[in-house]
Amino acid sequence: MAGVQEYVDAHRGDALEELKDLLSIPSVSTDPARRDDVQRCAEWVHGRLESMGLAAEICPTDGHPVVYAEHIIDASRPTVLVYGHYDVQPPDPLDAWRHGPFSPTVEGDFIVARGATDDKGQLYALVKGIEAAQEVFGTLPVNVKLLIEGEEEIGSTHLTPFIRAQKERLKSDIVVISDSSQYARDVPAITYGLKGICYLEVVVRGPKQDLHSGSFGGSVANPANVLTRMIAACQGPFGQVGIPGFYDDVRDLEAWEREAFAELNFDEDAFRQDMGVPKLFGEDGFSSLERRWARPTLDVNGLISGFTGEGAKTVIPCEARAKFSMRLVPDQDPEKIRDLVTDFLLEVAPDSVNVEVVDHHGTRPVLVPRDGKPIQAAEHALAKGFGRKPVYIREGGSIPVVNTFQEELGVGSLLIGLGLPDDGAHGPNEKFCIADYYRGMVTMAHFLEAMAAS
Ligand code: BES
Ligand code: ZN
Repeated sequence: MAGVQEYVDAHRGDALEELKDLLSIPSVSTDPARRDDVQRCAEWVHGRLESMGLAAEICPTDGHPVVYAEHIIDASRPTVLVYGHYDVQPPDPLDAWRHGPFSPTVEGDFIVARGATDDKGQLYALVKGIEAAQEVFGTLPVNVKLLIEGEEEIGSTHLTPFIRAQKERLKSDIVVISDSSQYARDVPAITYGLKGICYLEVVVRGPKQDLHSGSFGGSVANPANVLTRMIAACQGPFGQVGIPGFYDDVRDLEAWEREAFAELNFDEDAFRQDMGVPKLFGEDGFSSLERRWARPTLDVNGLISGFTGEGAKTVIPCEARAKFSMRLVPDQDPEKIRDLVTDFLLEVAPDSVNVEVVDHHGTRPVLVPRDGKPIQAAEHALAKGFGRKPVYIREGGSIPVVNTFQEELGVGSLLIGLGLPDDGAHGPNEKFCIADYYRGMVTMAHFLEAMAAS
């Protein structure tokens, strides 16, 4: 009987074609104009799972649908729940792409498209790994469930009630998620920590309509000027957040963890060059890995105000908006942070404008188990797929459902990122290494086999 590696090697072409099909569906969850495409993407995923012989269904929610599938071979065997998301971020800025974001293109070792790494490519590697296991072993070695959602990039708002309502059905021993990255090229990783987030938007409203800035400048407050001062008040020059109480619940990094990060020998200057910046930036007394993985941050994600077209226009905009988010670490709470930040903004705002703060979404930071059987199975499987043992890392991104699984189902998540740190997730020309796509399949098949051997 051929082994997993041989099976995957023999089916590379089909696997790549299928991924291209998936990547060509513009399932942008935040864009109301893409609603039908999001639905079509759910149908595509459902169709593939069904054709693998899994019992699959599309479950409507108050937002985008969830695709659920399962194959129970024997209720007394371990159950692996795979989670992933079929929605993607908006492709903007469009003119920075070398090809259309939804025209997947192979460039050297990579496939380039929106969603290539986040998360369609990584998710589909797990799906094809399940298929490989089925084919190679004749049957699945363990019970498999898949929960694939269409709202991860907008905070997984409707997934929590779905999970609460389906607790029995979703019962499992471990959740497997590939929606992050390896530590570096050819260095696979197990991620044991993710940041939380608190995403807000502040709206500053001034005069009833845009005004001539010569006639009226200096006599009414300019919302854009006010907003930039308010944002500046939130932060010190090294990114430290100046909002009273913001750090109250931040757990200090322990010595063992600082040492473990240091042992990863992160190359700060290579990172600087990679980012294309003249100098790295951040809180004093912390390394880049510490800042990225274990320190809370505040970033403006979008600024909207005034004239942004070609040339010059003299105007006082009647409104200014900033979308901004705080990334949170244990034990910060997004609701508490939202209240602190809202109070602070309202307090620093002058009474010459009206200010509103809108809460978009929030999720708690999370740490997942670093030992136990699934971790051992993953170490074994990653060694098979990637040719070396994984390192242990944390990440700065958020996957809201990891908390929900922990809190609602009492089940931990195994985060095995197949992407690379420079894949360009959320940016233009997002890519995914095709070899890692195949390695991910091999890893998943071996993981299922190792989970069975208990
Ligand atoms: N795949 C990312 C999460 C991620 C990024 C994990 C980098 C580890 C490293 C995920 O799709 C994502 O981007 N999530 C959003 C969630 C948010 C909208 C609640 C994020 O982190 O911005
Ligand atoms: Zn993702």
